[in-house]
Amino acid sequence: MTNWLVFVESNTSGTGRLFAKAAREQGLTPVLLSLDAARYPYVIEDNLLTVEVDTRDQHSVLAAYRKLATDGIVAGITSSSEYYIAMAASIAEQMRLPGPEPGAIQRCRDKAWQRYQLRKDNIPVPDFYLASSPIAAGEFAQRIGYPLVVKPVSGSGSIGVRFCRNREQVLAHATHLLEQTANERGSAAAAQILIEAYAGGTEYSVETFGLEVVGITRKYLGALPNFVEMGHDHPAILSAEEREAMERVVRETLKSLGLGWGPAHTELKLTEKGPVIIEVNPRLAGGFIPELVRFSCGVDLIRETIRFVTSKEVSLTKKYQRYSSIRFLLPEEEGIISGIWGIEEAKAVSGVESVMLYKPNGWMFRPQGDFRDRIGHVLACGNSPGEALEAVEEAMRKITINVSQAPSNFGDQ
Ligand SMILES: Nc1ncnc2c1ncn2[C@@H]1O[C@H](COP(=O)(O)OP(=O)(O)O)[C@@H](O)[C@H]1O
Ligand SMILES: [Mg+2]
Repeated sequence: MTNWLVFVESNTSGTGRLFAKAAREQGLTPVLLSLDAARYPYVIEDNLLTVEVDTRDQHSVLAAYRKLATDGIVAGITSSSEYYIAMAASIAEQMRLPGPEPGAIQRCRDKAWQRYQLRKDNIPVPDFYLASSPIAAGEFAQRIGYPLVVKPVSGSGSIGVRFCRNREQVLAHATHLLEQTANERGSAAAAQILIEAYAGGTEYSVETFGLEVVGITRKYLGALPNFVEMGHDHPAILSAEEREAMERVVRETLKSLGLGWGPAHTELKLTEKGPVIIEVNPRLAGGFIPELVRFSCGVDLIRETIRFVTSKEVSLTKKYQRYSSIRFLLPEEEGIISGIWGIEEAKAVSGVESVMLYKPNGWMFRPQGDFRDRIGHVLACGNSPGEALEAVEEAMRKITINVSQAPSNFGDQ
């Protein structure tokens, strides 16, 4: 009898593939419910079973689920994609499978709701306003003062998140966001945006399971006005006070939001006044952070998440203490990727664990100012933070991405 592990869509930044692989390793048959499985290149490469479903509609997903249940046993249902975790949680609840509280997950998808809730519980968040017109955005910006951040109320991967230095920039970006009718996945976009004070300082993410902190990741961001994540180090190097302050605030945050089930990924800035919450993602981290955690301490968060959603016992016991760093590859200018050199040389650097390319030669690169600009990565480990850092930087220096100018009619229909 087939033991299904049902995935509702997948993230596109790496861990989706690892989830399916880990499910197989646990004797489960992964099946991906997707509106358009072709958006995930790994599906064909890994021969992953897919069912075409309109995943924007819960009834359709439920019908697909029921059909699978007549064909075997559904051991669990989950999603590695921000956009579908609430749907997976809701179906898990209806089918009496393990899962987070769907209401809490659904509410968390709304960054404004998170902000109101945390402010009510005196948890430090940036000053913020919710605007539904560019004029209102301009007025709120005046109250907050510059610089500030304008962003969608829901989203992921820094899509649409912009640093603004003055009223003109706020008006232009607010107009742009409010004109959007659909998000990245084709679902209706919200008619409101957030105007927030800019929180300075270094950015970290705290990886938790339940209310337990598994580790803290240091993040590196690209040039403003965008917030492209360019790399991460895990575990972050922190003083005991810094670590305790972050852990404390994250536990309070999870409790305030009604979370505390399974994996979560909380982003924060360590400002001069202490930690300020940027957002909580009630799911496992993306950006290969689970891989960094695994290389650093032997805890496989993907495996444990699968165990958790299939009612198995979870172990978060660290097996060793190493250090891992990942750096993402981004072309420097717009154009067609005409050559990527030095991959083998980068792989040969001592300490490098993986070098991965997400885009092929011939791919047209149009900078978007978010995670979609990343075309690959280098991941390295070491016995000290310096060792991991040196290895990743040396490997990055070996790689060259050639971009050639696209003919003016490139991409025309
Ligand atoms: N108020 C803020 N102050 C400083 N940086 C911010 C603020 N809001 C967002 N950012 C930056 O933008 C990134 C993306 O914003 P976030 O709200 O996490 O959106 P997403 O859901 O797309 O990840 C954050 O990781 C952070 O670097
Ligand atoms: Mg974020």
